[in-house]
Amino acid sequence: MSVAAGAAVGPPPGMRVRLSSNESPFGPSPAALEAATSTLSQAHRYPDDASAELRAAIAVDEGVTPERVAVGTGSAALLMDLIPQRCSGHDQPEVVAFERSFVVYRLAARNAGAAYVEVATGGPASGTEPGYTRDVEALLAAVTPRTRVVAIDNPANPTAAHVTGDALIHLARELPGHVTLLIDEAYHHFATGQLGYARVGELALAHEEVVVLTTFSKAHALAGMRVGALLGPPALVAATDGRRPRFNVAAAAQSAAVASLGDQDHLAATIRGTVEGRSRLSGGLHELGVAHSAGLGNFVTVELGRPAGPVVEAFAARGIGVRPLTPYGLEEQVRITVGTPAEVDAVLDAAPEVLATPG
Ligand SMILES: Cc1ncc(COP(=O)(O)O)c(C=O)c1O
Repeated sequence: MSVAAGAAVGPPPGMRVRLSSNESPFGPSPAALEAATSTLSQAHRYPDDASAELRAAIAVDEGVTPERVAVGTGSAALLMDLIPQRCSGHDQPEVVAFERSFVVYRLAARNAGAAYVEVATGGPASGTEPGYTRDVEALLAAVTPRTRVVAIDNPANPTAAHVTGDALIHLARELPGHVTLLIDEAYHHFATGQLGYARVGELALAHEEVVVLTTFSKAHALAGMRVGALLGPPALVAATDGRRPRFNVAAAAQSAAVASLGDQDHLAATIRGTVEGRSRLSGGLHELGVAHSAGLGNFVTVELGRPAGPVVEAFAARGIGVRPLTPYGLEEQVRITVGTPAEVDAVLDAAPEVLATPG
């Protein structure tokens, strides 16, 4: 299933309740705001090109050494450097991912001149069963001598599916040595401890080249600052880092991210609020008999059983922006980000009318 590479990714303008871009509705840590604001007085200076303090803070947070950490203007920018770097110098490289994975894997493969190989998943959610289940055996079957990268968004956007820690252990054991295994943990904060999910860092995977992507855009609520991190073997991290533009992460963004890592109370409250909101949104949809995948991210993927366009418009008419998934080949689904308690209420209040199957 293909994703339209040129499709717009921004949120629809002017929505009262903006649930279309998997942002955190709880906002950044006050400490992050203060740090960014005070850094702005030095806006005439270039930022630290090496982002040394930020990389050190991420290293401490992740329990690794700083040479295993690179940072970028969002994890999307790191993907755009990493995938071409892994493909460079190889004949007819291939990037393997599950169908309907995060769109940037496709864009990065295109920039690398690589073939993008999509592996089928399970079908849509039905009843109380989540959809788009992922089988790592199918991924392994798609690997060839030309495969350079296997990329997994875990949990996945926009399908909300995930791969368990046990499945990752198996995948890493079976994956040939010439393949880089890329696990994108953008939503890990909302997944930890649930349904067999485990972060790579907890697993001691039996594969040389495993890289992990994380971001400050989701649980840290700094999407507008554009900060992401790449964790992996030092040589691979250095090779990817060598491709970034100089002075890539703005000074205010570096300060905000460091301060956000220091405010674990705010982070914990955001995670708690998101997981509670997800469960309430999912429960409300179940009560209405609306099939959906609640998954382990900060969003739910709703099955409409009819074209999404009029449903998106009906939500928009009530000031609620939700995400159509047509660019992912999902014509009859929408993705709804978990909002504040009041925003979840707004969705559930609108849902009986907006999601009712026309008679
Ligand atoms: C799975 C996944 N990875 C990475 C990102 C990119 O995040 P950013 O570039 O903001 O760090 C997103 C954003 O939605 C995502 O859903």
